[in-house]
Amino acid sequence: MKFTSAVGALGASSVLLSGVSAIQLDITSTDNIKQVAKSISANLRQYYTGDRVGDTPGNLPDPYYWWECGAMFNAFIDYWYYTGDDQYNGITTQALQHQIGDYDAFMPANQTKTLGNDDQAFWGMAAMTAAENKLPDLTDGSPSWLALAQAVFNTQKDRWDNATCGGGLKWQIFTFNNGYNYKNTISNGCFFNIASRLYKYLGNETYGTWAEQAWEWELSVGLMSADYHFYDGTDDTQNCSTINHIQWTYNAGVHMAGAAAMWNVTQNDLWKTRVKGLIDGASVFFKDNVMTEVACENNGKCDVDQRSFKAYLARWMGYTAIVAPWTRTYIDPLLQASAKAAAAQCTGGTNQTSCGLRWIDNGVNDGSFGVGEQMAAMEVIQALLYPTVSGPATQNNGGISTSNPDAGSDVPQTAVSFNAVTTGDKAGASILTIIVLVAIVAGAWWMVS
Ligand SMILES: *[C@@H]1O[C@H](CO)[C@@H](O)[C@H](O)[C@H]1NC(C)=O
Ligand SMILES: *[C@@H]1O[C@H](CO)[C@@H](O)[C@H](O)[C@H]1NC(C)=O
Ligand SMILES: *[C@@H]1O[C@H](CO)[C@@H](O)[C@H](O)[C@H]1NC(C)=O
Ligand SMILES: *[C@@H]1O[C@H](CO)[C@@H](O)[C@H](O)[C@H]1NC(C)=O
Ligand SMILES: *[C@@H]1O[C@H](CO)[C@@H](O)[C@H](O)[C@H]1NC(C)=O
Ligand SMILES: *[C@@H]1O[C@H](CO)[C@@H](O)[C@H](O)[C@H]1NC(C)=O
Repeated sequence: MKFTSAVGALGASSVLLSGVSAIQLDITSTDNIKQVAKSISANLRQYYTGDRVGDTPGNLPDPYYWWECGAMFNAFIDYWYYTGDDQYNGITTQALQHQIGDYDAFMPANQTKTLGNDDQAFWGMAAMTAAENKLPDLTDGSPSWLALAQAVFNTQKDRWDNATCGGGLKWQIFTFNNGYNYKNTISNGCFFNIASRLYKYLGNETYGTWAEQAWEWELSVGLMSADYHFYDGTDDTQNCSTINHIQWTYNAGVHMAGAAAMWNVTQNDLWKTRVKGLIDGASVFFKDNVMTEVACENNGKCDVDQRSFKAYLARWMGYTAIVAPWTRTYIDPLLQASAKAAAAQCTGGTNQTSCGLRWIDNGVNDGSFGVGEQMAAMEVIQALLYPTVSGPATQNNGGISTSNPDAGSDVPQTAVSFNAVTTGDKAGASILTIIVLVAIVAGAWWMVS
């Protein structure tokens, strides 16, 4: 993931008023929700070209980064699970298979120069979802979905870094990459999410212990506040003593799902309090129950990555409502109002199915179109279907993906066998480091605590 919050801007400025709407969402009708999700999914799918001859399966064209492709295929797996429509399963399995990489851990050599723990984890979480939703494992000798999630977990637990800040994962995997000194919440949150879900799937305490450790560490340095707000990250050259306080929807979401999985397995009051606290803390992202990326929607500075973040809070609210059913009373009003508001503005483009970024403008489409905007609307609408599914499988309850506790153990911790970084790349990286620092300082003005 790229840190460009200070330089992003809304791509399109044309504003379309919603006179004619091709989409009418009726949240009381399962069939209607599926139809609306289908229309929006078709529009999302047309951004993807990786399945064309000569293109690379799993990649989206510029300006979309590799991590967002993993996120998009996770969305398509959930789409199939919620609606039963399997039309994207072919491109999804082809993409995941192609990006497994030499070490069977979603670390393909092409991504080495910018590979963050969060980037790897978004693909790992897609594989975890495939296992939970019972997408059949690949049959060509590739690792199982579950083994891919285990590989991401195993490689990341080995990167846990006690050298500074009392622990935590760094953002970047390789020393030569810009961002290596940043310990960020999404990387640690994704690790927590995968560990918690592996614990739920397999019941093996090792995963639960790591999930607990990641949670406690984030709290100890202040990436998470005592009242469950999640901040962007912190510089480990200063022993994590200063925090970039910008808040993003996806950080709340990634922890909500993990905490809900922890409650599901343990059913203890500690995790219940945490899940409830997280839902309450996420209220900073809702205006009249409609989700908004509050850090950048109002100033028009959401970058390409950030325009997708609401997708993940919506996705993981659906997951939370399934695995911790007592949360439904809190989550339903938020999901329903957000889905209605999102659908009401999906009126752009030739087919009147292009969704804009902002959902809080009473059906006005803001003309900001792209994978992130489209995926976010699809996720929040399909999440309404959560009461119609049985929920994530586990090894002892319907799971069909094969476990490999040792997956990922061949992955080198240094980049020795990856492409050497060139002088040009190093120069580029140091320029980017300066941009990151400026962005952190510029981002700090925006605080909610
Ligand atoms: C619009 O619909 C046509 C026909 O179904 C389809 O081929 C095209 O890809 C759609 N375009 C978008 C942007 O959804
Ligand atoms: C890496 O890049 C090459 C050249 O573009 C491409 O042929 C190959 O499929 C890519 N591999 C992956 C895993 O993306
Ligand atoms: C890092 O510190 C944690 C917590 O103190 C400890 O459990 C763990 O064993 C340490 N890990 C390493 C690799 O030293
Ligand atoms: C660095 O931070 C950790 C965790 O907050 C703390 O335990 C440790 O004492 C700090 N080290 C220094 C040198 O300040
Ligand atoms: C735990 O999650 C499963 C779905 O994976 C759900 O069926 C079950 O009811 C949940 N357990 C509790 C105690 O709510
Ligand atoms: C639990 O998982 C750990 C880490 O993968 C593994 O070493 C251990 O053998 C597993 N325990 C059982 C009982 O499967």
